[in-house]
Amino acid sequence: MSTIIAPSILSANFARLADEIKKVEDAGAEYIHIDVMDGTYVPNITLGSPVVKSLRPYSKAVFDVHLMTEHPETHIKSFADAGADIITFHAEAARHSHRVVQQIHDAGCKAGVAINPGTSLSMIEELVEDVEMVLIMTVNPGFGGQKFIESMLGKIHMLYHMIREMETECDIEVDGGINAETSVLVREAGANVLVAGSAIYCAPDIAQAIKDIRGKEIVHHHD
Ligand code: DX5
Ligand code: ZN
Repeated sequence: MSTIIAPSILSANFARLADEIKKVEDAGAEYIHIDVMDGTYVPNITLGSPVVKSLRPYSKAVFDVHLMTEHPETHIKSFADAGADIITFHAEAARHSHRVVQQIHDAGCKAGVAINPGTSLSMIEELVEDVEMVLIMTVNPGFGGQKFIESMLGKIHMLYHMIREMETECDIEVDGGINAETSVLVREAGANVLVAGSAIYCAPDIAQAIKDIRGKEIVHHHD
């Protein structure tokens, strides 16, 4: 499975978002990772659906919206209408997580479910067959530039095998502390969608940073 790079605009210059998106798109990024924080589920507030709607005409890339909000069900329609392609919500924030998945599909988007470092895979096991993507947080959500949590590698590996045992198809996205070094580790463990904020937007050469994070293709031997 080839690697998809999803630069997180959290580390971009918010005064020039359209240009910042174009930069990573021209440099080969497939997705644009849009971090939505509500000031409650996580301490900060970032941006809402009007910003996504304004950016949509400026980009052909897949808009990968990461909802770090309470009550994710209340935000789905507005982000779908604004032009989101994938909407990912946190399992910890949803009381009826399976219904949220249905709502995302009904809104015409691909559905992703995210879990924090302290949350076990068992919380989303029943959703794996119904979502297009599982997001394994490799830092605690809320801030860019944090250190990758190594113990998440086992979780990624377990999810990779769980997906194969279920004979289903589902992307594994990782988010937090991803750079050229940690990229190798998460890809070996089975991740195929890599979010990176600071490692891309704070790099002197964005195209080179994306290339380094993408790395060489890893062949998985199914055991
Ligand atoms: C963290 C966000 C991330 C963040 C990652 O809560 O979900 O997408 O931008 O930033 P880096 O890549 O700098 O760890
Ligand atoms: Zn994110």
